[in-house]
Amino acid sequence: MNKRTTRLFRICIMMLLLAAVLTGCGSGILFAPGTGESGIGEDPGAAEAPAPDHHTITVGFSQLGAESDWRSANTQSMLEAFDTDGYTLLYQNGQQKQSNQITAIRTFIQQEVDYIVLAPATETGWDTVLEEARDAGIPVILVDRRVDVADRSLYTCWVGSDFELESIKATAWLDAYTAKKGVSTDEVRIVNIQGTIGSTAQIGRTRGLANAVRANDWELLAQMSGDFTQTKGREVMAAFLQRFDDAIRVVYCENDNEAIGAIEAIESAGLTAGPDLDRGDLLVISFDGTSREALQLAREGRIACIAECNPLHGPRVRALIEMLERGETPEKFNYVEERIFSALPEVREITVDGVRYEVEKP
Ligand code: AHR
Repeated sequence: MNKRTTRLFRICIMMLLLAAVLTGCGSGILFAPGTGESGIGEDPGAAEAPAPDHHTITVGFSQLGAESDWRSANTQSMLEAFDTDGYTLLYQNGQQKQSNQITAIRTFIQQEVDYIVLAPATETGWDTVLEEARDAGIPVILVDRRVDVADRSLYTCWVGSDFELESIKATAWLDAYTAKKGVSTDEVRIVNIQGTIGSTAQIGRTRGLANAVRANDWELLAQMSGDFTQTKGREVMAAFLQRFDDAIRVVYCENDNEAIGAIEAIESAGLTAGPDLDRGDLLVISFDGTSREALQLAREGRIACIAECNPLHGPRVRALIEMLERGETPEKFNYVEERIFSALPEVREITVDGVRYEVEKP
């Protein structure tokens, strides 16, 4: 048979099957191939007809938004990891609103998905909707940030970063760098452009900084949220520069997009972002290491140090689902390993809690 004849033959068979199903005579036919009852197994054309895939796993993914390069990379990683046979991914962008994410979860429940993957914007306010998912028997996997719920069994597991550890590494680098440069602790006057208030990333990075300020006798001049975006990072930095004039020495940005915005504000005020504190540079510290622009700024020393936050969680979430499918119980909290980057030669390694981290070139 040539290709065209084969196709026509297949179409005929498909139509016959469809007619059988519609008239009710076909019950069981599609689910009993090769048993001899349906005759499907004896027909070469029908044998090649697409069989329904009983193993497709439907995953509803509620992403919190698209505020940063990190977030775009994270979304891409999820879409790619599930763009494969055996999975259907339903993706919803929450546009930074928890109410949108709650609506998305309720829609996934109605759609009877097999798993819900939630990247929550902020930590609180999830109890009710997660109870609804549990009542529907749908496992929830958290990715990136966490939720603060009374009952931790409302989610199956979590995968993401240790945001406070990232901050401990960044501030250990700052401590080592200022010591090497002979900058006295009371000269370390910091402004903090925070992430989205109430998000796990903000909570961990702000807490890490607060502890380091206390431990090292640094001065924290001010804190304000830049919502993890470049635009707000620029606005907040412009406001800090107006308020503190030339008192600021260190700008601690809770992600790279804020750092890019802050550098724009610094440079348009006629100042420089760089490593030479004694020449009046403002030392910028950041998190992520995802965007090309931020990595380039780090190569130039305009961002002094970046604590990595790894966004490539798609394959990790898939591996967790595969464990659950095999009936295994994954760890409740799954941390990813992360690095620290700086182009400045003064500090080549830091040690945190007995663990040594090489400071890598960006
Ligand atoms: O939750 C991870 C943080 O969220 C990333 O550091 C930041 O860039 C993102 O928006």
